[in-house]
Amino acid sequence: MERSLVIIKPDGVQRGLVGEIIGRLERRGLRLVGLKFLAVEVSLAEQHYAVHQGKPFYEGLIRYITSAPVVVMAWEGKKVVEAVRQTVGATNPTAAVPGTIRADLGIDIGRNLIHASDSVATAEFELGLWFKPGEIVDWARDGERWVFEA
Ligand code: RTP
Ligand code: MG
Repeated sequence: MERSLVIIKPDGVQRGLVGEIIGRLERRGLRLVGLKFLAVEVSLAEQHYAVHQGKPFYEGLIRYITSAPVVVMAWEGKKVVEAVRQTVGATNPTAAVPGTIRADLGIDIGRNLIHASDSVATAEFELGLWFKPGEIVDWARDGERWVFEA
C-alpha cells in the first residue's frame, strides 16, 4: 500500500502538538508504520529540501527544521499521499482550509508545523532519506476492513 513521509516540525514539538497531530492522522484511518524522534543534521535538511535551494526562504527553512527536535513518521494507506496533504492543509496556514492541521493550529508560513510528501515519487525518495531499511514496520491492523473497502 502507498506510503508518505510526515515530519512534525520543531514548532509542533516545542508547542506540545505531537499527540494532537498524530491523533488527527490516526483518526483519519491511516496506519502508522514508522516513527522516530531526532535532531536534524544540516546535511539531512539540505537533502530533504534540495528542491528549494536558492529560493528566498531556503536559509530560514534550513534553520527552522534544524532548530529543535522533530518527529519523523511513515504513514500507510490507500491514497495516503493525497489524504495526508489534505489533512495537513495549504502551505500558508492563513490560506489553509479550517479543519486542516495548519489552519487550526498555525498562523505563519515559516511555522507551519508539519511536512508531508507531495507525491508518491517524492514520498519514496523522502522515506529512503529518513528511514533505514527495517525501520519501517509492515504490520496488519485489526479492523482494517472498517477503514478500507477490500
Ligand atoms: P512541506 O514541504 O514542508 O510539507 O511544505 P509544502 O509542500 O506545503 O510547501 P513547500 O513549497 O514544499 O515549502 C516547504 C516549506 O518551506 C517553507 N516556506 N516558506 N516564506 C515562504 O514563502 C515559504 N514558502 C515555503 C514552509 O515551511 C514550507 O512548508
Ligand atoms: Mg513540500
